[in-house]
Amino acid sequence: MKAITVVPGKAGSAQLADFDEPPEGDGPVLVETMAVGVCGTDLEIFAGEYGWAPPGHERLVLGHESIGRVAEAPDGSGLTKGDFVVGIVRRPDPVPCYSCAAGEWDFCRNGQYTEHGIKSLDGFMRERYRALPDALVKLDSELGALGVLLEPTSVVAKAWEQAERTGNRAQWRPERAVVTGAGPIGLLAALIGVQKGLEVHVIDQVTEGLKPDLVAALGAHYHTGPIASACDSPDVVMECTGVGALVFDAIEHVGSGGVVCLTGVSPTGRNLEVDAGLVNRDLVLQNEGIVGSVNANRRHYEAAGEALAQADSGWLAKLITRRVPMEQFAEALERRADDVKVVIEIGGGN
Ligand code: BGC
Repeated sequence: MKAITVVPGKAGSAQLADFDEPPEGDGPVLVETMAVGVCGTDLEIFAGEYGWAPPGHERLVLGHESIGRVAEAPDGSGLTKGDFVVGIVRRPDPVPCYSCAAGEWDFCRNGQYTEHGIKSLDGFMRERYRALPDALVKLDSELGALGVLLEPTSVVAKAWEQAERTGNRAQWRPERAVVTGAGPIGLLAALIGVQKGLEVHVIDQVTEGLKPDLVAALGAHYHTGPIASACDSPDVVMECTGVGALVFDAIEHVGSGGVVCLTGVSPTGRNLEVDAGLVNRDLVLQNEGIVGSVNANRRHYEAAGEALAQADSGWLAKLITRRVPMEQFAEALERRADDVKVVIEIGGGN
């Protein structure tokens, strides 16, 4: 079968080539991959800046945002041929630490977790893979191929959960949220914010085109410029860019008792001058909470499935701005100005 692989740490090493069939030892469920989304993490791996191959291997199969269909599943697995499934990205560490032992691998304490397509486990940009039933999430068949959005939605479902848990340290009645960044993560964060009944303000740089339209279609408000000019004292800021200046803008302008949730993974080595005294004063005098959030466990995938099921499928479909056949995968790994979510069509399970 064909797979898209890279040599982690080596820019320009990506290739589409023949790859071994998935070994039976990977699990009894055989999944045919339909499509895989591309995100910033994939681009970093592609550029040789992130990623680890499985032990003893030179190459890593890319891809962690998948949708596929079950081709074979054992009786009693809860899965049957034809089911739409998404592979859970992170797997618990082998020790396991107390978080992984409790199913909260997203909070792995010892760093020995693995991630499909990212860290020491092959990903989903291949025609078929095998998995254990509990490493898969079954999707509402009405969502169908749009289920490729489940993994990024799981990441924001977790971020919202973390923001709410932080806010609920005390009496908390959030009304207004700011989302920084109108990429897939920002737009999905805005979707969930609107579903929660919040007044949502999304900030990005572009002044026209699909992003402002998608925000407006949610009933949210689109802005360019700083947080203070978009919304006065938001209760929550979902930071979805990883841009240092925006992180500190969020900390400075979140409302009293508010929460800043950071989801963007930034490159290192960028310096910024900040008034450390002011940041500390704000945090203390206003009981602000800052929480970082990465990855997702099963309950976040389930919450994400509910969010997608409630969303307008026409709106979700518009998030996918390019579909690229597997043979032309290199085009999917180019950033284009009007991209929101780019998906590589693997073609299985159709
Ligand atoms: C993935 C997460 C993963 C993180 C760090 C993100 O792109 O969506 O599942 O934990 O990268 O590797």
